[in-house]
Amino acid sequence: MDIKNIISQMTLEEKARFCSGADEWHIEKLDRLGVPTVMMSDGPHGLRKKVKTQAESYFYGDTVKSTCFPSAAGLACSWNKELLYGLGEALAAEAKGEQISILLGPGINMKRSPLCGRNFEYFSEDPYLAGKLSAQYIKGVQAHGVGTSLKHFAVNNQEHRRHCTNAIVDMRTLREIYLAAFEIAVKEAKPATIMHSYNCINGDQVSKSKWLLNDILREEWGYEGMVMSDWNGMNNRVVSLEAGSDLEMPGSFGIRDAQIVKAVKEGRLDEKVVDRAVERIIKTSYNWQPDENAEKADLVKSHAFCAKVGEETMVLLKNDNNVLPICDNKPLAVIGEFAKTPRYQGGGSSHVNAAFVDDVLECMTERNGGMVEFASGYTLEGDVNTPDEALIAEAVETAKKCGRAVIFAGMPSKFESESYDRRNMKLPESHNELIERIVKEVPETVVVLLGGSPVEMPWLDKVSALFYAYLGGCAIGKAISRLIYGDACPSGKLAETFPVKLEHNPTYLNFPGVGNDVVYAEGVFIGYRYYQKKQIDVNFSFGYGLSYTTFSYDEIKVDGDKVTVKVTNTGKVAGKEAVQLYVGAPASYVERPVKELKGFEKIYLEPGESKTVEFELCDRSFAYYDVRINDWRVESGEYTIYVGGSSVDTPLTATVEKVDNNPYIEPITINTPVIDIMTLPVYEPIREEFMMKILPPVSREKVKEIGFFYKKHPSIYPRRYHTMRMSVRWNDGNMTEEMLMQYIDEANAKLFNK
Ligand code: GLC
Repeated sequence: MDIKNIISQMTLEEKARFCSGADEWHIEKLDRLGVPTVMMSDGPHGLRKKVKTQAESYFYGDTVKSTCFPSAAGLACSWNKELLYGLGEALAAEAKGEQISILLGPGINMKRSPLCGRNFEYFSEDPYLAGKLSAQYIKGVQAHGVGTSLKHFAVNNQEHRRHCTNAIVDMRTLREIYLAAFEIAVKEAKPATIMHSYNCINGDQVSKSKWLLNDILREEWGYEGMVMSDWNGMNNRVVSLEAGSDLEMPGSFGIRDAQIVKAVKEGRLDEKVVDRAVERIIKTSYNWQPDENAEKADLVKSHAFCAKVGEETMVLLKNDNNVLPICDNKPLAVIGEFAKTPRYQGGGSSHVNAAFVDDVLECMTERNGGMVEFASGYTLEGDVNTPDEALIAEAVETAKKCGRAVIFAGMPSKFESESYDRRNMKLPESHNELIERIVKEVPETVVVLLGGSPVEMPWLDKVSALFYAYLGGCAIGKAISRLIYGDACPSGKLAETFPVKLEHNPTYLNFPGVGNDVVYAEGVFIGYRYYQKKQIDVNFSFGYGLSYTTFSYDEIKVDGDKVTVKVTNTGKVAGKEAVQLYVGAPASYVERPVKELKGFEKIYLEPGESKTVEFELCDRSFAYYDVRINDWRVESGEYTIYVGGSSVDTPLTATVEKVDNNPYIEPITINTPVIDIMTLPVYEPIREEFMMKILPPVSREKVKEIGFFYKKHPSIYPRRYHTMRMSVRWNDGNMTEEMLMQYIDEANAKLFNK
């Protein structure tokens, strides 16, 4: 298809029309020149294809029946690249069957605070995990002819005032944390489109940010796809077009089209910029044309797959005395309205009209030979917070009668959603009270929490076992019952830290910000990067999760950038293990985390089976972003490789020596302190010659005699923070500022080989 030729035949008005959606979900078409349209739809973990127009129905319910898979927060706990690829394939099958060309996901914004209302829809607090898993999701979807939209690019880490917040974040933090996941996904998976976010970054509206949408995304990362706005996220259409925001969504009823035409005609906008955007838009339509013969997906098959996915997304956090799995067909109390009305997805644009939804209670009852007693324990209607004494008393009696209980509790849907943030990390008081009252009477109590992000657990020490099931998708009943009864072995591991309480979180004083401004004062230290650096105890660490079996780690070998380890299933049942590799940097020019995730592999092992797991590292595994050169830098020194089953359980370590062949040299100025010249290796080539010119005469010979062990020298050490400009006074008037500047210029010339 000769798109440039097509564009050459289009009028300016036609081109302008293409720069915003035809309506809420379609790209424009142009029958005159045979340019087809395509339809896009949410969402990241299930198809939300509207069956009515926005005018007919704003509500999320009027969408086609589809499979609601676990939300990203749970998917990330699988640590399973193949699973995410398979999920992408399943999503593509349903999208194709509904003639959808672009699926609006995945969402990979970092979990800066546990309070973000959309954390359920995002992967992790770690950019490497989020980037690698979302890349597989994108590959899986796009392998079957459906495009994706990686979102929300970038630094969209809260819902509070999301359309107008200004994220104030330093460049190193941006690169290492908030852009890094997007960089991995863009480079590895080439998403069909990118959806930019609503917010500003350092005062720069993302929709108008050439630096972000063009310089970084396209010129540095090589992205060639189409960039679209989030819905109603366009600010100034003309400036945004120049910045690289190709498509405004949804359509603008011609208002923006006119602005574009007017700007071109008035010479404020080069028509070539319009052509560039139209070319990307039309290329997207051609590249992702729907298959009109595509059959509707088999939703029953999809639902079964959803259960398999769900099993790997739920995390066993506690299992004292191996009370789980339950496998003795004795009476069991299943407590909690969530067992009857499970919360299996989040609210907002990702909301799916699920074709099937498991009845958790039914699944739990069937698998236990019918010997299950139920009590709701709390209500999900009306006041969900205030404990209902009658419901609690009934639940306690039911649990006492059976002698053991599985309580389904967690966050009701209104506690977290797109478009608003959580007020705290607390569960409803009714749920906490229910758990406290039951564990008092029934020690063998298992708690299963449903929710999209970390919660405080005041009763944690009192319960025997705990699953965090996240929002496990529409097959949640089969998934959790298979895990509870041991038909499946838990393998989920947390993709975010569960702090003891919100006040421990590094963003506590800077979330959700003051007015529109949100200061990312914690820098790169979000999640485990913070808690480990500050040695703050947490309830559950990043990468943590229990199994019904055990694994041993042996024989770490490092050969260049290749690292291998041997992992053995030392238990009695088969299981999967997310093997994690972290890198710890030596003392650095900047403050760096204790360790950072730089590799992971999920493996299956039969009891007694061993496998060798291989990791391939690269420079970026060791680098930090050096704002002095606006590039990544691997500093010289000894790096530590950590391998294990979680960020706090890394039994295997090895060291790797790195040499920085291009160390940063700060040019000497009159404000360079003595200590830098005397101690930094980069100044060694000029140190003696330079210092002999500027030191007080009395010191020169002495320093020469004792060498540059300046700490011993009485006249030097006190001056260690003195700067070069003070050396004029050291020489009793025999050195002028002009002489000093000459010595500095000579030294710099030698340092920079000029
Ligand atoms: C919403 C969301 C975005 C979604 C879009 C279309 O505002 O931010 O994730 O894809 O609009 O519904």
